[in-house]
Amino acid sequence: MNTPFAPNTLYYGDCFDIMSGFPDGYIDLICLDPPFNSNEKYNKVFKDSGLHIDPQIKAFDDVWLWDNTSAERVERVKNAVANPASKVIAGFEGFIPRSKMLSYTSYMAERLFMMHRILKDTGSIYLHCDPYASHYLKLVMDAIFGEKNFRNEIVWHYTGGGRSKTYFSRKHDIILWYVRNVTSDYQFNIDEMRVPYKPTSGYARVGIVSQSGKRYTPHPKGTPVDDVWDIPIINPMSDERLGYPTQKPLALYERIIKASSNPGDLVLDPFAGCGTTIEAAKKNGRDVIGIDILPFALRLINRYRLAPNGITPLPIEGVPVDMDTARQLAKAAPFKFQDWTISLIDGLASNPQKVGDDGIDGLCTP
Ligand SMILES: C[S@@+](CC[C@H](N)C(=O)[O-])C[C@H]1O[C@@H](n2cnc3c(N)ncnc32)[C@H](O)[C@@H]1O
Repeated sequence: MNTPFAPNTLYYGDCFDIMSGFPDGYIDLICLDPPFNSNEKYNKVFKDSGLHIDPQIKAFDDVWLWDNTSAERVERVKNAVANPASKVIAGFEGFIPRSKMLSYTSYMAERLFMMHRILKDTGSIYLHCDPYASHYLKLVMDAIFGEKNFRNEIVWHYTGGGRSKTYFSRKHDIILWYVRNVTSDYQFNIDEMRVPYKPTSGYARVGIVSQSGKRYTPHPKGTPVDDVWDIPIINPMSDERLGYPTQKPLALYERIIKASSNPGDLVLDPFAGCGTTIEAAKKNGRDVIGIDILPFALRLINRYRLAPNGITPLPIEGVPVDMDTARQLAKAAPFKFQDWTISLIDGLASNPQKVGDDGIDGLCTP
């Protein structure tokens, strides 16, 4: 499939297919928050959320199985010699054969390689993951982007939720930042990344004189933030909360966007979800492309992210706009047609079992 490349567009589909139609070296910043290998049953979370979004819940189960598709994908990645992660995946196969992690990392290896191709020489990529997968993904990223292009492992620390009695409570995610080319003039807007000095800091009062007598004067915007970011999660009472189970705080993605892009730059989120990146980018004058495999997520972005902020809704590519295009989709991709039609009816969820029924069924959800 060859998808037209158009900034300020939302695309419905697998990001691998969509990105394959994009030209080389066009994107300034990629922020991705892919489904983790976390064993979360998001369909259940959607059902339980009870919030004000339509419960069109056939989304994605963040559960990675080992099945024939995984086995074929691992073979494909291992044989893709142009992809530097092929050797990493071959190594993982020896270490964790036929596992969910191998399934997940091979899926990511194909997509991250595509992202490397479409990123500008001066571009950056921020990969959001969790401590279960971050060490595996770092090896994949080192292979594809190059160890020398690694900039930071950002710890996003939050509080809230339950506390464990048998281990230290797990309260952080990992965000891996790589640049495309560390010797290029890549973006790092340090003055946008300053936070007020702590009251205990000498800088906070008068500045500091070092032992050699050199005086350091405080910066009016404070000190540059380090690689541990304390940003609250979206709690159940938060105004920001849309009810999308994996929604991330706007402040987290605004920080990434301000750090590594400038107004007018093009930001891509290939796993857009309910559009945290899209809102953060548009509010800060960036162009955007968002991709999601769920048509209803893309509609949420226009309805709850952009319209309330007075931002013109973005065109959604890949969903039918009239009878002709609906017929074309039904013929070309029956299950995509199924997902799309069912997502238009409140209270219905597309049947996750994709069997040979020509894509004309749905599940009634309570
Ligand atoms: C963890 S969520 C992203 C949440 C997002 N950061 C936010 O704040 O709303 C991952 C998203 O990736 C989407 N997704 C899963 N597989 C995909 C694929 N192959 N291509 C595009 N989107 C995909 C899911 O539908 C889900 O919305």
